[in-house]
Amino acid sequence: MTSTISAGATVLAIGATGSIGRLVVDDLIRHGFAVRALVRDPSRARATLPDSVDLVRGDLATGEGLADAVAAVDGIVFTHGGDPRTVDYEGVARLIDALGESRPRIALMTSMSVSVGSDVYGGVLHWKRRSERLVRAAGLPHTIVRPGWFDNETADQTGLVLEQGDATPLNDRRGVARVDIARTLVASLTSDAATDVTLELFAAPGAKPSDWAAAFAALDKDDAEALAGAHDAGVALADEPDEVLADIDRLRG
Ligand SMILES: NC(=O)c1ccc[n+]([C@@H]2O[C@H](COP(=O)([O-])OP(=O)(O)OC[C@H]3O[C@@H](n4cnc5c(N)ncnc54)[C@H](OP(=O)(O)O)[C@@H]3O)[C@@H](O)[C@H]2O)c1
Repeated sequence: MTSTISAGATVLAIGATGSIGRLVVDDLIRHGFAVRALVRDPSRARATLPDSVDLVRGDLATGEGLADAVAAVDGIVFTHGGDPRTVDYEGVARLIDALGESRPRIALMTSMSVSVGSDVYGGVLHWKRRSERLVRAAGLPHTIVRPGWFDNETADQTGLVLEQGDATPLNDRRGVARVDIARTLVASLTSDAATDVTLELFAAPGAKPSDWAAAFAALDKDDAEALAGAHDAGVALADEPDEVLADIDRLRG
């Protein structure tokens, strides 16, 4: 059974007004998806998003509007960014709870270095790693993209590499173009080979993937037991805080 989706399917964009989300929306439309966006302020969002996008008012921090946002969606792309705990982590938990029995295809953007974690930036790397674990625990068909530093690529880095193991130190500041992050997230929705895969994404000398299915097929699947990306050597599941382990137990059912 395939868990991928194709043109005509309805995809919910979370973080659609953001610097990556806005590019995701354009790419979803280019692929022929019907696009719905969860937005906190519809009148502000209307000014930046194409008219064809269906806007649903809601808030990841409170849960408002989430049930309406996920009704009958075939896919969800997460590119949100807010308070690390209440939005980046708990927002994902609320959204998964709102899904009930439905199992849309998920593309979740987090960040390089999440598996290792760090207390920088309010602990955002820890909370994003934990949000990845929620998606894996819920058993939703997913691809997790961990980009490097937005638009921090150098002139010779005209290509794109998909890596695993999350071994690059954050302070190396390896970059990747925002537009390539959006393209990778959207391409993952349509590729069986991308299902249940976690990857780091960086610009590099060379070429961009011309065959996304082949690029995803070269990667290993997530470690379902450890709820980690393949080859992650960072924070173990057992070392997550008790409240996170409780969320994971609940979602594993
Ligand atoms: N900068 C980097 O190099 C880098 C690298 C890797 C990962 N990241 C991560 O990427 C994420 C996104 O970055 P960005 O620059 O694209 O962010 P951004 O432009 O600030 O966009 C954030 C998006 O999240 C939405 N959002 C925030 N709080 C929300 C809530 N309570 N409910 C619903 N939606 C909410 C915002 O909606 P509104 O329009 O309502 O505000 C906006 O659409 C961040 O978490 C960041 O940590 C950044």
